[in-house]
Amino acid sequence: MRNRVFIVSLCFLLLLPVNEISAGIENALDESTGYEGSIFQGNDENSGQSSSNEAWNSLSEATGLNEDRSSRDKDPNSQDDSVRVGCSDYVLTGERLREIRSEFMYWFFDKGGDDDEGDYLKEIQASTPQTNKNFNFQLPFFGFRFNQTRVSINGYLEFTDPPERYTYPLVFPVKCWPKENDPSFIGIFFSKCRIGEIWSTDRDRRKPGVYFRIERDLRTRKDQLGVEMRERLKWDVREGMSGAEGFVPKHAITVTWKNVSFTGGIDNSLYTTNTFQMVLATDEANTYAMFNYPRVEWTSHTEAGGDTVHGDGGISAFVGFNAGNGTGSYEYKPFSQTPHIRDLTRAGWVNGFPGRHMFKIDEKIIAATCS
Ligand SMILES: *[C@@H]1O[C@H](CO)[C@@H](O)[C@H](O)[C@H]1NC(C)=O
Ligand SMILES: *[C@@H]1O[C@H](CO)[C@@H](O)[C@H](O)[C@H]1NC(C)=O
Ligand SMILES: *[C@@H]1O[C@H](CO)[C@@H](O)[C@H](O)[C@H]1NC(C)=O
Repeated sequence: MRNRVFIVSLCFLLLLPVNEISAGIENALDESTGYEGSIFQGNDENSGQSSSNEAWNSLSEATGLNEDRSSRDKDPNSQDDSVRVGCSDYVLTGERLREIRSEFMYWFFDKGGDDDEGDYLKEIQASTPQTNKNFNFQLPFFGFRFNQTRVSINGYLEFTDPPERYTYPLVFPVKCWPKENDPSFIGIFFSKCRIGEIWSTDRDRRKPGVYFRIERDLRTRKDQLGVEMRERLKWDVREGMSGAEGFVPKHAITVTWKNVSFTGGIDNSLYTTNTFQMVLATDEANTYAMFNYPRVEWTSHTEAGGDTVHGDGGISAFVGFNAGNGTGSYEYKPFSQTPHIRDLTRAGWVNGFPGRHMFKIDEKIIAATCS
């Protein structure tokens, strides 16, 4: 297993110059300014049609193709061929699709919108570890359906109330349910986190903290980011999970925890940070979760036995899913609550990326297995 991971990593390194790898992984979206006119359409409650894509449209000749792979992998039942191309509609070329799919991290923005904070959740701070978000659509998860969530600094999305306190290692479903609450949650790095710091030399200048964006009604979107999000996610899921060949996302949620440190550490530990990103895609019947881990520098907060300098030792973060109400849980082994959690950045290999993992999560949780 170890050997194989090593060999595959070598191949990857041979294929790409090092600077390209780190560029892909850091995803410094240099052209992000090009999106600023349209990126908030998806987050806008009364989302109308965007009109600011002319510059970008002129970049891509109207080749009439939204995806060049469709001829190869076309599912006769998929509905995405019904997209009609009007003169102001964004047209995605095959070349552009390959380019965006070669980036590791999905889009998140720190600029734009009413307050020019982009997707940044400025309400999440030391005193406020979580915030509520409405979906305005149904997200099937682990046998339930939710139309809202709580985004937590602590590396998870929570749908129902937690127990009063946790002890380590975490065990789900919560043993004393129904006396204690058994929360429904998606845990990408369930721990106790605090917002860290970045070095003045860090290339990605986006603020440390939590970023949240929703892209709704992807099937009818004509703006550049809507079309690109739909096609990118569609092909990443189709090629990432077996059985997803006909999947077309309707709605997507991207939550990024950037440069978060652990609670209980000394001041300097704020520079020991993790970055991870969850992308949820649903057609309101099937739901897929992608976990991207570009950076895992610490494993445990101090209450779970981590040391105060490096956040190391003790019981590592929990990675997995809990259905709630005592109905079931899924812990992602061998990473969750073990020192192997550091290997998350090197394992997975979904869509050819070390550090990318994928799951089907609407009913029973199924992990993608990359052979
Ligand atoms: C969410 O669903 C609940 C019922 O489960 C409903 O009462 C509520 O109005 C819904 N909220 C939104 C914003 O759709
Ligand atoms: C912050 O996160 C970015 C992206 O993961 C990383 O390149 C950078 O080194 C991190 N900075 C610190 C201080 O950990
Ligand atoms: C659990 O049970 C409570 C009370 O019966 C109910 O309100 C809730 O919707 C159920 N589902 C989840 C996921 O907690």
